[in-house]
Amino acid sequence: MKARPAPEVAAHRPPTPLQLQLAERMRAHGPIPFADFMRECLYHPEFGYYSRPEARHFGDYYTSVDVHPIFGRLLARQLAEMWHALDCPTEFLVVEAGAGTGRLAAHVLDFAVRALPDFYQALCYVAVEQSPARRHAHAERLEAHVSRGRAISAAELPREIPEGCILSNELFDALPVHRVLCRKGTLHEMFVGLRASGPGDDVVEGFPGSAMQSAELEERPGPLSSPEIEEYFLEQGITLCEGQFAEAGLEACRRFLDTGRRLGHGFFLTIDYGYEAQELYSERHLRGTLLAYSRHRVSENFLDAPGEQDLTAHVNFTALDVWGGRAGLARTGCVSQMAFLVGLGRANEFADLYAPDASEVEKIRARLLLKTLLHPEGMGGTFQVCVHHKGITAPRLTGLQGI
Ligand SMILES: C[S@@+](CC[C@H](N)C(=O)[O-])C[C@H]1O[C@@H](n2cnc3c(N)ncnc32)[C@H](O)[C@@H]1O
Repeated sequence: MKARPAPEVAAHRPPTPLQLQLAERMRAHGPIPFADFMRECLYHPEFGYYSRPEARHFGDYYTSVDVHPIFGRLLARQLAEMWHALDCPTEFLVVEAGAGTGRLAAHVLDFAVRALPDFYQALCYVAVEQSPARRHAHAERLEAHVSRGRAISAAELPREIPEGCILSNELFDALPVHRVLCRKGTLHEMFVGLRASGPGDDVVEGFPGSAMQSAELEERPGPLSSPEIEEYFLEQGITLCEGQFAEAGLEACRRFLDTGRRLGHGFFLTIDYGYEAQELYSERHLRGTLLAYSRHRVSENFLDAPGEQDLTAHVNFTALDVWGGRAGLARTGCVSQMAFLVGLGRANEFADLYAPDASEVEKIRARLLLKTLLHPEGMGGTFQVCVHHKGITAPRLTGLQGI
């Protein structure tokens, strides 16, 4: 679990281009819900964090995929087992939502072609990525598999996924969330607007106009922008405490539902950090779970440098069950990344760690990197692998068997 950082005093720096654009919009139309602010910060077509080439990615954060290809290799074994559970259809679609630059896709495909040839012949891997800059990187990485007809790079999900597995790695934590505050038993939504120079009211309809020319932003509570926010908490039986901040991941729920509806028979495998609702909204997370990442520094300065830092919130796996259920998805199981990798790797004592021609030094290095992926107080414990199935009876999956 990530530690909550102490709030930092923001260093004074010039406003980002996105900040100037947002300030203009707020001057004309008033404050916007935090979810809209987060959407702009991450997905603005020109200035959004994920719309730009990935050059600074490693400077801000890295994911399990970046650590070592073993993650993708063991995932390939799990996917091949899913293919068997569906009676080895002639075409098995693996649809990776939010595929980034295609690193995970390459690790799965490169391993499958060499170690799982029958599965590879049935595999059609669709790497879906909304950012043209990131999608561009697929071309080179996946070239060999695309030319063999085993991979496709796409901007949108296929309309139908008759048989296969939808998967995502750190997608749902990167979707906009509504931020709420519970006060006197009532939910208020956090809005982002221009910083007021004088003292303002606690709960506002619109922000005071005294900061007309400034681009400095601040957060204030206001009325809920949609009744869906209250329904989200009611549906999961969640009551927040007095003074508690929390996130409602409505976009993740909608995305899970929409994607799940496209699946005929198969699986939805989600890799992300998160909790069940009872834990996520417990007194252990009174400030919510939203964090900003910039140059490997984690902070709660969400409003700083819009478009230039990553914003994430923990995933609510219970909510995925509820919304997924509407698409006919049922939970197969949910385990830590450590349990998932150990479950799949122990059969051959992690022999998949090594490339066929690896030297002794490379083998030692690979073993050290595996520890990074498995460590229960690091990635191994923070990340969860949650699998849902649809149109089949719950199968036994090796990755979910626990340690
Ligand atoms: C945190 S990154 C993770 C990238 C990759 N899965 C990895 O592990 O490195 C989230 C990715 O999801 C992409 N994304 C977000 N919404 C999307 C959508 N609607 N369709 C396709 N990709 C999306 C973003 O552009 C970004 O590349």
